[in-house]
Amino acid sequence: NFGNTLKVLGTTYPTDNLTNVTPAVLEKIGKNLHNQANHPLQLIFKRIESYFHKTFLKRGNPLFSSYDWLSPVVTHEQNFDSLLVPKNHISRSPSDTYYINSEYMLRAHTSAHQRDLIQSGLDAFIVVGDVYRRDAIDATHYPVFHQIEGVRLFSDFQLFNSGSDSKSVTLFENGSRDEHKQEFHTLETSKIIELDLKNSLEGLMKHLFGSEVTMRWVNAYFPFTHPSWELEIYYQDEWIEMLGCGVMEQKLVHSAGASDKAGWAFGMGLERLAMKLYSIPDIRLFWSTDTGFLGQFEGKNFNENITYKSVSKYPQCVNDISFWIPENYSSSDFYDIVRSIGGDLVEQVKLVDEFQHPKKKSFSHCYRIVYRHMEKTLTQEEVNQVHQQIESLAASQLGVEIR
Ligand code: PHE
Repeated sequence: NFGNTLKVLGTTYPTDNLTNVTPAVLEKIGKNLHNQANHPLQLIFKRIESYFHKTFLKRGNPLFSSYDWLSPVVTHEQNFDSLLVPKNHISRSPSDTYYINSEYMLRAHTSAHQRDLIQSGLDAFIVVGDVYRRDAIDATHYPVFHQIEGVRLFSDFQLFNSGSDSKSVTLFENGSRDEHKQEFHTLETSKIIELDLKNSLEGLMKHLFGSEVTMRWVNAYFPFTHPSWELEIYYQDEWIEMLGCGVMEQKLVHSAGASDKAGWAFGMGLERLAMKLYSIPDIRLFWSTDTGFLGQFEGKNFNENITYKSVSKYPQCVNDISFWIPENYSSSDFYDIVRSIGGDLVEQVKLVDEFQHPKKKSFSHCYRIVYRHMEKTLTQEEVNQVHQQIESLAASQLGVEIR
């Protein structure tokens, strides 16, 4: 539906058989909510940045530098290979990722910039930006969200704080990998980096949620860190996963030209954090240009506590759609069509029924689409129009057979 080329941020890219970005998603590029004055995502970013600037100083100056203007268009190599993501990893699947073509894509995480920023000579930095994933549609998922990434590297001297000639402890060894460490790290290296990482991030959570916040560390897996963890906080009667992190894979640090250093990295989503911190009930609100939303954050200092007051919710309209699916069908293709036509009128899409025809063996899917406008009441007629457009586009583009 683009022809042979498409244009993103002023650059023209040839399209090919991997292209799966949609106009609805491309339209979000360049909005840079994280840099928009008075936007809750900007307030969150500034609050996190202030923690890193205040807490970590080098001769009175901030140790961490921030990058908030890197383009979300990256190569597959930057997003995956530079981070040692295996060729067959699920995250590379076109049903999970937005591809521009066989070389370029929309970054799926801010980790895509780790290697290049280290290569440019940085030891301590944060990156903020919009990231893109093909995903479910509900109050907490949206094809675009924002992440903050942090990386810190240490030299031998910085880590062991010793000007010692007695080289009793060293950064590296040719050892073996186990649950506590990588083959090239000594146990001391791994444990001290882990301690520094955990202290830094626990400090960040206290800075955000107050010193009384309850936290727990959960073991995790990422191709670009080992060991890896997720940090969860206990908030309003539930455990919430806040971030992923770990000791950076030495192979990655080495490929970035910093072989004499070792360090940690973390990545955290901003929307979920902002939703908890400011009591924002729906992820679509971040894209609202309505003063009823943005006005509540205007003129606020990033360290202020803000509680968003929901305008009472307008009623829902629920319509189902059922169709026979062709081979190679993926639900994310359907979700993109719903996004393209319904935009932010759609609150949720749920696969409610799935069955196989006893004779023809073909499969049928039934999706329930919940429509709700954030700022007014929708009429059944308005909803029917959108719903019918979704039906006909699904039929013509995905080859589904409406029942
Ligand atoms: N990029 C990971 C994600 O999006 C998070 C992460 C960043 C994990 C850095 C480890 C280190 O889930």
